[in-house]
Amino acid sequence: MLLITAGHETTVNLIANAVLALSRHPHVRDVLAADPAAMPTAVEELLRFDGPVERALNRWAAEDVVWGGETIRRGEPLILILGSANRDPERFEAADALDPVRTPNPHVAFGKGAHYCMGAPLARLEGEIALNALLARLPGLRVVVDEEALRYRFLPGFRALEALPVAWELPIQG
Ligand code: HEM
Repeated sequence: MLLITAGHETTVNLIANAVLALSRHPHVRDVLAADPAAMPTAVEELLRFDGPVERALNRWAAEDVVWGGETIRRGEPLILILGSANRDPERFEAADALDPVRTPNPHVAFGKGAHYCMGAPLARLEGEIALNALLARLPGLRVVVDEEALRYRFLPGFRALEALPVAWELPIQG
């Protein structure tokens, strides 16, 4: 069950969030469309910039810990906001900018430590293949609704659009 839910909802939303980000950054979209080999590095940045998993599962402190000047007592719950960590200006230069060649890119979109995402290599491959196919087959791919019309689903922990209406230029035939 975990493989199916963790493996489907996540990658679907990686692709949708990435299409939205590329629509908002058409220059990056066009650069990637012209150079599919650049996609693996760009996928890392798309995972950081607007990843599909906003929060890790809750944790409980196994022992007293002092962190950032605060004492977290044994047994207290912790909520880890991956989306926020991925925009930490102390960790990432120009954290709010989409930089498709960002290297190194120590994002935590797949978590960290013992529960690091089991499907990360598959998810990376799916994202790369899907985005390269979309950019090759749907030139000028872009979102066609106003920003205010975009709605996110109530799906705790996930960053999942309700819908993403898009359009593209018809490829020239013949
Ligand atoms: C872009 C796609 C994906 C993202 C962003 C993602 C993200 C994550 C994150 C953040 C965790 C750690 C949660 C935590 O520490 O509380 C996790 C765990 C996990 N993911 Fe993914 N995931 C993705 C795709 C997949 C795929 C494709 C599969 C399987 C086919 C998968 C299977 C799992 C499993 C089984 C775990 C639990 C690992 C454990 O607890 O030891 N994920 N994922």
